[in-house]
Amino acid sequence: MSLRASGAPEGGAGEPILRLRGVAKRYGGVAALGGVDLDILPGEVLALCGDNGAGKSTLVRIVSGAETPDAGEVLLRGRPAAFRSPHDALEKGVATIHQHLALAPRLSIWENVFMGAELRRRIGPFALLDKARMRREAKGYLARLSVGIEDMGRPVEGLSGGQRQAVAISRALLWNAGLIIMDEPTAALGVKETGQVLGLIRALKAEGRTILLVSHNMADVVSVADRVAILRAGRKVADRPVAGLAPEDLSRIIITGEAA
Ligand SMILES: Nc1ncnc2c1ncn2[C@@H]1O[C@H](COP(=O)(O)OP(=O)(O)OP(=O)(O)O)[C@@H](O)[C@H]1O
Ligand SMILES: [Mg+2]
Repeated sequence: MSLRASGAPEGGAGEPILRLRGVAKRYGGVAALGGVDLDILPGEVLALCGDNGAGKSTLVRIVSGAETPDAGEVLLRGRPAAFRSPHDALEKGVATIHQHLALAPRLSIWENVFMGAELRRRIGPFALLDKARMRREAKGYLARLSVGIEDMGRPVEGLSGGQRQAVAISRALLWNAGLIIMDEPTAALGVKETGQVLGLIRALKAEGRTILLVSHNMADVVSVADRVAILRAGRKVADRPVAGLAPEDLSRIIITGEAA
């Protein structure tokens, strides 16, 4: 598996893992992003907030390789990123977990984790799927996230929302993504599962991974993020540490574009 080589905890001291400079994107007459600068530093949880239509998902699609910007540049560890596709981004260590998880509900946990990166073993001229190893390794990834599910053969559709997030994150771990982007991971979850997902984010941070968290939930942001960037009508209006901010402070900046 030479593919999963991008490396997790790296990036020199202070050098951003990902750097956006003047990133702009238009859809017809709408300037979804009007020239955004943003640095994502190694090991931090950076929250990206803003009202509906502020440009968050557009930014996520650009940094995940799903879309290309009209102007500006995206640098990955100092070099132009130019992701050709989400798969290309994954191979370079950037994994995106979209709000509507791209999991195959009918397939098992291990099949979802290893999709597109199946392990095989050779028996004479044949290369057979190494299911036992994939089950074992899938269980190991979930255990790293403190999710104890016994049977890796369970279809994903029978899991809770928080457990599904863990399966999606396990895929990111398999590819050894150093930067994990999560678009509204708790939007559809109840209180207990939201707590579970925040726990997953803390576990990833403790492993030295970097997280970009898109969220409308200010309590989540205050509880888990180190820094917050706020978009308003496609422009960045705030970029600051979370320490000392209350959820209401963030809501005010999102609505008015100004701090107190
Ligand atoms: N594919 C598209 N075609 C046309 N317009 C689009 C497209 N994608 C986004 N837009 C527009 O670009 C702007 C930014 O949208 P975006 O989805 O990035 O916002 P967002 O911050 O993610 O909002 P939300 O919080 O509602 O998810 C909006 O005005 C939206 O209508
Ligand atoms: Mg969005």
